[in-house]
Amino acid sequence: MLILGIESSCDETAVALVADGRRVLASVIASQTAVHQPFGGVVPEVAAREHLRLIDPLLHQALQDAGIDRDQIDAVAVTQGPGLIGALLVGVSYAKGLALGLGKPLLPVDHVHAHVHGALLGVEADLTSFYPALALVVSGGHTNLYRMHGPTHFRLLAASTDDACGECFDKVAKILGLGYPGGPLIERLAATGDRTRLPMPRMVEQKNRMEFSYSGLKTAVANLVNQRRQADGGGGADLADLCASFQEEALGQIVRKLSSALQSFGDTRSILVAGGVAANRRFRQMMAQEVKVPAYFPAPDFCSDNAAMIAAYAYHLAQDREWVQAAVGHDWDAYSRYDYARALNAP
Ligand code: KG4
Ligand code: ZN
Repeated sequence: MLILGIESSCDETAVALVADGRRVLASVIASQTAVHQPFGGVVPEVAAREHLRLIDPLLHQALQDAGIDRDQIDAVAVTQGPGLIGALLVGVSYAKGLALGLGKPLLPVDHVHAHVHGALLGVEADLTSFYPALALVVSGGHTNLYRMHGPTHFRLLAASTDDACGECFDKVAKILGLGYPGGPLIERLAATGDRTRLPMPRMVEQKNRMEFSYSGLKTAVANLVNQRRQADGGGGADLADLCASFQEEALGQIVRKLSSALQSFGDTRSILVAGGVAANRRFRQMMAQEVKVPAYFPAPDFCSDNAAMIAAYAYHLAQDREWVQAAVGHDWDAYSRYDYARALNAP
């Protein structure tokens, strides 16, 4: 089954063609980072206009890269949320028009759940051996830990009570005057720093509290920076140590919570890690050292927002008869009047 995926929830416009949920035939991603950089974050209206400008050329590029004619597409999958409403509207409207024009089903996909499928792209092993699994989505908007019984079953075990992990990297980078997005910049500086040098608060220490928290860590960094500025009038002296110490706790908190979830769920057969922060090499190293269950991370291009993960997840949703039944005739977003799943139910 060949699925065209479309992603436009935030500041990446992306189109991909994926066969049978895991074989990526084409994946094109246009990042808007440079457009938003002067503002220090994503400007929703600007993002929507950029999606509108980029989406059609990206579809042509993806078809060309895969050497595929649009008639060969079996279904169109699109991120329906969560995301910036104007940005989502562009992808959803475009996907609806395309599906209607081709006479193919339209599959609405949850962006956060789709991230998890980024970790399985290109994996050839039989997926049934992966479940029950624990899945982590660690991005700019979410720090979610799930228990999964299959590719479309998600039970949320823990989420952040305040900032998301990636958001905290971005805010700390801003406090340090490093720029946006903060994650890769902090990782680069942290590589030469001493991660034990500066004390950081250990967030959500109690093992039985299944939640994440990042705003206290951000405040601790802000206080440390202010104290140092007052003490020596500079503040830039230990930048690498500060980044390394912050990063250690930001990631350590996730590894700790995952370890206690593994104790509670002893039948876990795999760990799927996704989202922008999954690109962090220290995170991968810590996981390899601390966690004994096999962990799967996406290839670097599929950690951040992409459309291959959208098409991959949609493939599994399309196999799930219960989901298809529930979806038929249901207006799945504020703008929908297209009975997207009907074609899947056709005899
Ligand atoms: O998944 P993503 O591209 O977008 C969302 O859906 O949020 O994640 C973006 C987030 C940003 O906050 C960015 O700073 C963070 O992921 N990030 C990283 C790294 N690369 C991206 N955080 C830590 N280390 C990295 N190497
Ligand atoms: Zn995302």
